[in-house]
Amino acid sequence: MTAATQAGVVVTLDGPAGSGKSTTAREVARRLGYRHLDSGAIYRALTFHLLEQGIAPERWSALGAADLAAVPLSVDPVEGGFRVLLGDRALGPELRTPEVTGRVPHLAGLPAVREWLIRFQHDAARHGPLVADGRDMGTVVFPDAELKFFLTADLRERARRRLREGGVVAPTEGQIAREADGIARRDRNDSERLLSPLRRPDDAIDVDTTALSFEAQVETIVARVRQVDPARRRV
Ligand code: CDP
Repeated sequence: MTAATQAGVVVTLDGPAGSGKSTTAREVARRLGYRHLDSGAIYRALTFHLLEQGIAPERWSALGAADLAAVPLSVDPVEGGFRVLLGDRALGPELRTPEVTGRVPHLAGLPAVREWLIRFQHDAARHGPLVADGRDMGTVVFPDAELKFFLTADLRERARRRLREGGVVAPTEGQIAREADGIARRDRNDSERLLSPLRRPDDAIDVDTTALSFEAQVETIVARVRQVDPARRRV
C-alpha cells in the first residue's frame, strides 16, 4: 500500500484477543474524527457466511479465488467506521457468537482467504484517515502506517474483560481459568501460523493495558496521533 492510495493518516493497533484493541480503536477514531476499521469483523463475516452456507470447515482450505469472488461480502464506509455486509444484510452480533469465534482462526490461516480479504482493508484507507485494528495491520496490511501501536494485557485480565463483555460481572476462578485457556489457545494459533502471524511491528509503540483505565489507554494513543497529524480534529 503506497501513500498515494491512502486518503489520510493510517494508525494501526495490533494485539492479542482481549487486549482491548477494538473498543480502544473505535473510541480513538471517534475522538479524532477518523474512521475505525475492525479487520477481525471481516474475517468473522466470511466465517459466518461459510458456516451459514453449510460449508464444512474441513473444506475451507480448498476454497479458491473463484469461490471467494462469489461471496457477496462488502465493507461500506459509514459515519465513524464501516458496515460489513453480506448482500444487503448488515452484520453485527452474529459475528461474535462462540461458534464464529472458535472457527475464525482456522479461516484466518488460509493464504487464499488472506489474499482476498486484504483488498477490503486497503480500500478502507481510500475513504479518509483510519484507525485499523487486528493482528497484522502494522506488519502486512499497512506497513507504511504513520503510527503503529501494539496492545497487550496479561492473560487473566484479558479473560476477565471477555467475561465482562459477555455479561459476567463477578466471574469465579473456574470461569476465569476456562476463558484464559480459550484465549491462550487462540493466541497460540494466531502467533504460530505461518501466514501473517500476530507479531509486534518493529516500529510499534507498546501499550500494556493491564493496569490502565480505558480512558488512559485511549488518551495515550490519541495524544500520540495528535503529534503526527496536523489535520487532527479536537472532538
Ligand atoms: O476481538 P478479538 O481480538 O477476540 O478478535 P477479532 O479481532 O475479531 O479477530 C478474530 C480472529 O480473526 C482472530 O483470532 C484472528 O484469527 C483473525 N484475524 C486475523 O487473522 N487478522 C486480522 N487482521 C484480524 C483478525
